[in-house]
Amino acid sequence: MKRLLITIDGPAGAGKTTVSKMLAERLAYTYVDTGALYRGIAVAVRDAGISPDDDAGLETLCRAPDIRFVRAENSLRLLLNETDITGRIRTPEITMLASAISAKPVVRECLLHLQRDMGRQKGLVFEGRDMGTVVFPDADIKFFLDAPLEIRATRRYREFQGENRQTLADVERDMRVRDRNDSTRRIAPLKPAKEAVMIDSATLSPREVVMQMLKYIKESL
Ligand code: C5P
Repeated sequence: MKRLLITIDGPAGAGKTTVSKMLAERLAYTYVDTGALYRGIAVAVRDAGISPDDDAGLETLCRAPDIRFVRAENSLRLLLNETDITGRIRTPEITMLASAISAKPVVRECLLHLQRDMGRQKGLVFEGRDMGTVVFPDADIKFFLDAPLEIRATRRYREFQGENRQTLADVERDMRVRDRNDSTRRIAPLKPAKEAVMIDSATLSPREVVMQMLKYIKESL
């Protein structure tokens, strides 16, 4: 069977990560979490003590980001300059910093090249915000996964309960800010590609979403 490039875009907490991993597993494809790349750059920005508004500093840092995924046992690890930073990228601080720097053209530009390089092979599921619109406009199949804010915030809260000291209200507030940043920024805003298949995950389990996706993929081949 032809190996495809599949994109899954949508806001935080819509279920993209769970569903993308499950779909990639079902198809024996490689899964790429592009949000982790933005989070990795945020860690580099934080460690270098650069302000997210310092365009020149961001440019120097982003010119050649030594950032990549490696497979270790059953998980994917994120390396920044050969240091494993996987455990650092999901804190509330890095989450909000990733959202801020992702609006910067220089950051998007350098990650655009990195993502397109990763997309050279086929048999891939790319998850993000602008996969179907900007990074891979010619993707074979595009999905857009969404759900109401309250549902997405509750999911995220349950996922991190105990790890991050945030209340449900904190999580919902941060998510609202991120939604607004991501969908109103000038370049590559979060929006569905016009040919994207829209899926509302509010009342569906991840497995049900994946079943819908597999059905669509099968029908469109
Ligand atoms: O997907 P995740 O929530 O991990 O992404 C973190 C942040 O990275 C998002 O809020 C968004 O600002 C940014 N991002 C992006 N484009 C992508 C993936 C993530 O702007 N393709």
